Order: sequence, then C-alpha cells, then structure tokens
Amino acid sequence: MKNENDTSASTKEACILAIESSCDETSASICVGGKILSNFIANQTVHEQYGGVVPELASRAHMQHIVPVVDAALKTANTSLENIDAVAFTQAPGLIGSLLVGAQFAKSLSLALNKPLIAVHHMQAHVLANLIAEPKPSFPFLCLTVSGGHTQIVLAASPYNLKVIGETIDDAAGEAFDKTAKLLGLPYPGGPLIDKYAKEGNPLAFKFAEPQIPEMNFSFSGLKTSVLYFLQARKLEDEQFIQKHLPDLCASVQHTIINILIKKLKKAVKQTGINRVCIAGGVSANSGLRNALTSTGEKEGWQTFIPSFQYCTDNAGMIAITAYYKYLAGDFAELDISPTARAEW
Ligand code: KG4
Ligand code: ZN
Repeated sequence: MKNENDTSASTKEACILAIESSCDETSASICVGGKILSNFIANQTVHEQYGGVVPELASRAHMQHIVPVVDAALKTANTSLENIDAVAFTQAPGLIGSLLVGAQFAKSLSLALNKPLIAVHHMQAHVLANLIAEPKPSFPFLCLTVSGGHTQIVLAASPYNLKVIGETIDDAAGEAFDKTAKLLGLPYPGGPLIDKYAKEGNPLAFKFAEPQIPEMNFSFSGLKTSVLYFLQARKLEDEQFIQKHLPDLCASVQHTIINILIKKLKKAVKQTGINRVCIAGGVSANSGLRNALTSTGEKEGWQTFIPSFQYCTDNAGMIAITAYYKYLAGDFAELDISPTARAEW
C-alpha cells in the first residue's frame, strides 16, 4: 500500500514523533531538527517476579502505556500532533507482540495525519544514540553495542552505513549479567543490581575464566557455567557463601565481562585503525564499563563517547535521531510494512 503523504516540511527542521516498543519499555520521543525535545519511558515492573520478560504481559502493558506515553512526550516537548512531520517506530528486532503494538500505533497515526512513516532498526538506533548529544563522534567510528539480546562491534562509516564486524556467538553481555545475577539470587533485570553491589566489592576477589574466541567475536555462555559450578562447590562448604560475599562476587563477575569486552575493542581499533570509540545499549549504563572505556581511551589515545543514561537502555530518543537521518535521506516506509522479530543488517 503506497503511503501518499505530505513531506513538505522544511527537511532540516522536521518534527518527528518516534515510538519504541521492542521489549518491555514503552517510549515516545519528539525530535525537531535533530534535537531531542522529549524522551518519555514507561518501564514495566510486571516481569520482575518471573525472572525475565513475559512476552504476552509485555504486549498488554504496551497497549496500556502507549497513549499516555505519546501524550507525555508531546506535552514535554510543548507540541501537539498537528506539528508532527513524520512518525517513526521500531520495526525490528524484538518481541513480535511488543513490536506490533508500536508499529500499529505508528501506522495508524501516519495514515490519520497524512504524514510519512519511518521504520527504524533497533540496533542501528542504539549505535546512533551517540549522535544525540555533543560532542558527537565524527565518522567513521566504532561502537560496542551491548544489550540484553546483542553484543556487537559496529563500524559506522556514516549514519546510513553501519557494519557489524564482531558479535557474540552465544549469549549477549546483558544476558551474562542477568543470568549470573539470577544464580546469585537477584531479581530480573540483574545487570543494574550487579553494577550496584560491585561498587562495594573487590573485582579481583574471584577469578572466572575468559573465553578464547577468534577475531572480534564474543562468547558469554561459558562464564555463566563457570559461575554456576563455582557457586555449587562453594555452597557445599558454606550454605551462606553468596550472602557473605555478594559484593565481591558481583565485582568479580562484572570485571570479567568488562575485560572480555575491552579486549575485543582494543583488537577492533588495531584492526581498523579507527580510534573513535563509542558504547551503546543497556549494558553501556554499567558504571564499570563506562569507567573502563574512559580509562582505556586515555591510555590508548582513543576519543571515547558514552551516551547519557536515558539513551543507553531502550528509549525512543535513539529511534527519533535515527529517523531524523532517514527523513533527511527521504527513506520512508510503506503502510503495509510489518515488524519482524529478527532482522539482519
Ligand atoms: O538495550 P536494553 O535496554 O534492551 C535490549 O535491547 O536488550 O538492554 C537491557 C540489558 C539487560 O540485560 C540489563 O540487565 C542490562 O541491559 N543493563 C545493565 C545495566 N543497566 C541495564 N547491565 C549492567 N549494568 C547496568 N547498569
Ligand atoms: Zn535495546
């Protein structure tokens, strides 16, 4: 179905409404001329008791949140639907039921307002979150994108040319945080809690094996198993082992994950000769990783870039900035576009 809509807005000053609903955060953002005016995020707490995101519950929560979240984003930006020049949404990857809520909402709005629709890839948006605030990296740059479902090193040659040059062969870094947190008896999502307890612990208290994976690829499933066996053995000697050593355990696990990530980044810089290095995705909110990137950058002579916290975990601001570049390029979607759970890029 052709989207015969009005694209008459002065391109550079375009006002874009963006929606993100790929997993368990419902978010809406307003971006005018490449500046984010609002980024409203509604978290779903319903999943905590299940130890992970329950897709059916996530879709239902998106249905409840989407109208108030879009309203809040418009109000915070001091604008209204009449001023919107384009509607953007996360098309892939993600939970299909969650994606469908955002996609249907965006498509309906695009049709009703007679404004173009922009489909955004969630992982590209995580990378381009680094273009939201000054100082921005100039192209080309490298980005370590670490989230609950992905761990990638991306070479960004331009906003339109992003290439994955390394990725995990099994679990993502966020999964490594969440799964080890579960072994330590912490609720989902465990990443932020490991970060919190790690601040009071010794990162060298316990040693966990780091995998030897070729090129710029990663593996995290072995870490989870190694933590599991380690805890099983220690608990045989002392039932209270985890409770007594929680900060040291968190600090040591976090230290191992960060070491694996930073080693591969060093390899990527060496191999590509590009020393502008960004991080992105939920795990880039981790204070240990943020500090490690900054200190490695100082030692190695890299320029480093880290998005502010609100643009690390899932948010519509990153969808809006990506949509802005797509608007400039005239890259619009048709109204019969469907979201997809998986998407190569
Ligand atoms: O990007 P994101 O919000 O959603 C996905 O697209 O997956 O990432 C979520 C992941 C979860 O695994 C969560 O535990 C992790 O990011 N995370 C953290 C921190 N904040 C979020 N991991 C470690 N330290 C944090 N501070
Ligand atoms: Zn994400």
